[in-house]
Amino acid sequence: MILDRLGRPIRDLRISVTDRCNFRCTYCMPKEVFGSDYIFLPRAELLSFEEIARLARLFAVHGVQKIRLTGGEPLLRRDLEHLVAMLRAIDGIHDIALTTNGSLLARKAQSLKDAGLDRVTVSLDSLDDTTFGAMNDVSFPVQRVLDGIAAAAAVGLSPVKINMVVKRGQNEGDVLTMAEHFRGTGHIVRFIEFMDVGQTNGWRMDHVVTAQEIIRTIGDVHPLAEIPPAYPGEVADRWRYEDGAGEIGVIASVTRPFCGACSRARLSADGKLYTCLFGATGHDLRAPLRSGATDDEIAAQLRAIWGHRIDRYSELRSEESPDLPRVEMSYIGG
Ligand code: GTP
Ligand code: 5AD
Ligand code: SF4
Ligand code: SF4
Repeated sequence: MILDRLGRPIRDLRISVTDRCNFRCTYCMPKEVFGSDYIFLPRAELLSFEEIARLARLFAVHGVQKIRLTGGEPLLRRDLEHLVAMLRAIDGIHDIALTTNGSLLARKAQSLKDAGLDRVTVSLDSLDDTTFGAMNDVSFPVQRVLDGIAAAAAVGLSPVKINMVVKRGQNEGDVLTMAEHFRGTGHIVRFIEFMDVGQTNGWRMDHVVTAQEIIRTIGDVHPLAEIPPAYPGEVADRWRYEDGAGEIGVIASVTRPFCGACSRARLSADGKLYTCLFGATGHDLRAPLRSGATDDEIAAQLRAIWGHRIDRYSELRSEESPDLPRVEMSYIGG
């Protein structure tokens, strides 16, 4: 096991498998920036599944137990289930999850489950087509995402989590509707404070609907009680319905930062390792992979990178609001 300079172990590896997405969520890949002339990573620059699995094995040796596949939209990467099967075979990896916009999930749920995926988290910002369309900016219908969620649950990729980014002026009116729709289904909705990640989404503090406000909106109608984290360093604060109808989560990255227990590393689709979601630069692991480095040499690099880590951006933002260059979320995954 390795610890960073603030004593935090590495437990969770989030792997972006593509920087492309078929949605253009205004808070993530605004069309003005990610338009038809935007240049995405060429195929040859993406890590192959073999390269990803090799790195994942080395991470597992150093304490990683949990892998999350992200993008962009990870289901746009062809044959993703092959990668899932390769990761499943790694000793020490206990949990493999996928974050998706759900658009292709109905078709892929069974093969992902068969390959060994444990669970999925589906992003869905509204149950209303007009609001959802305004947020994803491609007019994708809500029902097809709901079909994806149902398919995932039916094949046992559960519990299904549903991530809703709440942005004032867009969908804060849908918080209660969303909670009520999934109450009693066994699915867990997590309400996320709109974050200042990347440099293109025009973030402003007055667009943030705070976790406190979200809990009050729901709790006034359906009383809630806070429950302890499911594991150390969980990003969501958990609340259960007092009437037993299940639980929800709030991710208060802006108003209640959780860097203190952050054990997450992020690998971009082209093989750069980021030790913070708000990092400006990554550490290139593709070059050593492709220039014949041995496992021991690459492992030494991992230890050095993690050993020097001092990131705690969300905490610093509250303390001194730094205005530094930041990586885009669509490139690094959520
Ligand atoms: P579980 O394994 O199910 O607990 O999932 P998770 O909460 O670790 O992962 P998920 O991808 O569902 O995270 C939900 C959202 O929380 C992300 O999309 C981000 O918006 C935010 N988030 C996750 N990790 C971090 C982090 O390390 N820092 C910050 N600031 N936000 C994070
Ligand atoms: N703030 C909060 N969450 C975001 N996501 C993407 N961009 C942001 C942002 N600016 C969420 C998506 C998805 C996950 C990958 O990250 O909605 O659930
Ligand atoms: Fe695509 Fe997810 Fe970003 Fe929306 S939030 S543009 S679905 S990667
Ligand atoms: Fe971890 Fe960086 Fe997020 Fe803090 S801001 S929780 S250090 S990824």
